[in-house]
Amino acid sequence: MKRGTFYVTTPIYYPSDNLHIGHAYTTVAADALARYHRLIGRDVFFLTGTDEHGQKIQRRAQAAGKAPKEYVDEIVSNIKALWKKLHISYDDFIRTTDERHMKGVQAIFQKIYEKGDIYKSEYEGWYCTPCETFWLESRLEEGKCPNPDCRRPVEWLKEESYFFKLSKYQDRLLEYIEKNPDFIQPTTRRNEMINFIKSGLEDLCVSRTTFDWGIPVPFDSRHVIYVWFDALSNYVTAAGYLYDQEKFARFWPADVHLVGKEIVRFHTIIWPIILMAAELPLPRQVFGHGWLVLEGGKMSKSKGNVIDPVVLIDRYGVDAVRYFLLREIPFGSDGFYSEEALVNRINADLANDLGNLLSRTTAMIQRFHHGIIPPAGREEALDAELRELAAEAVREVKECMQRLELSDALAAVWKLVKKANKYIDETAPWSLARDPVQEERLGTVLNYMAEALRLVGVLLTPYLVETPERIWEQLGLSGDVRAVDWSSLPAWGAIPPGTRVRRGDPLFPRINIPAGEEDTHVGLEDFQRLDLRVARVLSAEKVTGTDRLMKLQVEVGDDTRQVVAGVGNCYRPEDLEGKMVILVANLKPARIRGLESRGMLLAAQEGDRIALLTVDRELPTGSKVS
Ligand code: MSP
Repeated sequence: MKRGTFYVTTPIYYPSDNLHIGHAYTTVAADALARYHRLIGRDVFFLTGTDEHGQKIQRRAQAAGKAPKEYVDEIVSNIKALWKKLHISYDDFIRTTDERHMKGVQAIFQKIYEKGDIYKSEYEGWYCTPCETFWLESRLEEGKCPNPDCRRPVEWLKEESYFFKLSKYQDRLLEYIEKNPDFIQPTTRRNEMINFIKSGLEDLCVSRTTFDWGIPVPFDSRHVIYVWFDALSNYVTAAGYLYDQEKFARFWPADVHLVGKEIVRFHTIIWPIILMAAELPLPRQVFGHGWLVLEGGKMSKSKGNVIDPVVLIDRYGVDAVRYFLLREIPFGSDGFYSEEALVNRINADLANDLGNLLSRTTAMIQRFHHGIIPPAGREEALDAELRELAAEAVREVKECMQRLELSDALAAVWKLVKKANKYIDETAPWSLARDPVQEERLGTVLNYMAEALRLVGVLLTPYLVETPERIWEQLGLSGDVRAVDWSSLPAWGAIPPGTRVRRGDPLFPRINIPAGEEDTHVGLEDFQRLDLRVARVLSAEKVTGTDRLMKLQVEVGDDTRQVVAGVGNCYRPEDLEGKMVILVANLKPARIRGLESRGMLLAAQEGDRIALLTVDRELPTGSKVS
């Protein structure tokens, strides 16, 4: 029997680039929430997806020489691969190009139009295409987009447009926000929005005619629906709006929309007014979390300071990255990202506190009790303290999760981890082991150590995806750590008699070189290990079945070799033949799509655009580059 439903969403992501660690932040947080609510018995619907329409995407696709849908398909599959790598347990992935979504958006638009809340007029103003936003002249910064992350040139647009009567709903919205203190959280964001609404809402332009990559206005196909109207509606179209009444009734209104602080305004003004006009209930909460900031400001592609989560996961493991994201920053505030901070968390919390606790516990049970977890005897004061703190940790985790205080929830688990380490120091099992009279006492202590760890394993299941299993495995517990009934926690004393520990590798090996201090300079001798040579492309042909790969024959001095290069997007075979290029001649030979490739061509890359490096005067092939 499920105890109620829980519907949680992330924003739907722009498929403009590979996502960075800042995007992973929202999604990992939503994942932890979804997992927690499943564990406490709720019927959970966890939604994420992609926001695929708009002029920006259309232009990018054009630049890449692709149809928009083809262009986004590839990026969407990268995004899904990233979520898989992060073990994101979403229940549905909506794409705004899905049929179910497009139909739903058109129906909402139509309904609001028929009510008279959408009307036709003319729009003139400054438009920022990257931000898909019209700006008042007075808001522009030196004539450019005022969004601090953008600051790109704006364009003067004049077009016939449909408008949405936000102004009509201003008072109703204000009243709703004031009556429902939980609707916008944290409170600081709520206050900002109240002030914003009080300063007056203008009607919103909700259609465009200057491009066509969007959902057509159902009764006027020269217009496409404004991307934010389109995108926000995903939260209902994914929940079954119009095509699955039962599901929609079960999950709508959503319990929480998790969003970054810069898009709180769209979610707490435009979205509720769309819902009011469409006569649908409002979501229970919009939670605006802070940003993960790098030195030099928020991460963004234009600033070139993005951090690739895939690289971090490969280097440190998925749980280290998830732990850092969830623990480092109080949810709602901004916080700094640095690799040094990540490594410090891994070393201090994961390797030292948690890893050591497991390693000490299993080692002592092995040494002092032949690997079998002993039964507990009479409880003494120190034992009771540990047991009570464990119960306290369970309570705190639950309370924090209700308030979306994810970092504090993990802090509560770590209080227990630290307490258990201290308990070992205070009870000194190694001394007890030397005294045969203390055999029962030793048994109790070893048993309590294992109990504390068992519970830590269970409490970590919403946040970490591999570690809880590894803790259980090393404790020798059977069954699935994720199947433990959370209503029974802490369930102290649940370890079955005769359980035998299985020592294994350290949970998180310490990382010795703090990455922040790593010297990224290379010496001349490092550079000289590369054998770079001038080469001439003799012939080129596309590798069948790919659109990116080309098979080249290149001449390097006396040698002719085959190289497979990923330049097929940007060059035709005839562009390449005869070209002088730079070859990394001592790269380990590789097989790419079954073809031998001996070397790599140097090329510069920006987004989808590639330019091969060449030499600016005739030199014999094979000449060394240094
Ligand atoms: N497509 C819109 C959302 C439409 S929702 C109906 C969008 N997409 S986005 O890809 O730009 O951003 C998605 C989410 O990632 C946002 O919540 C945004 O705040 C979050 N983040 C992007 N960079 C971030 C950081 N550096 N730090 C934390 N979150 C960040 O906006």
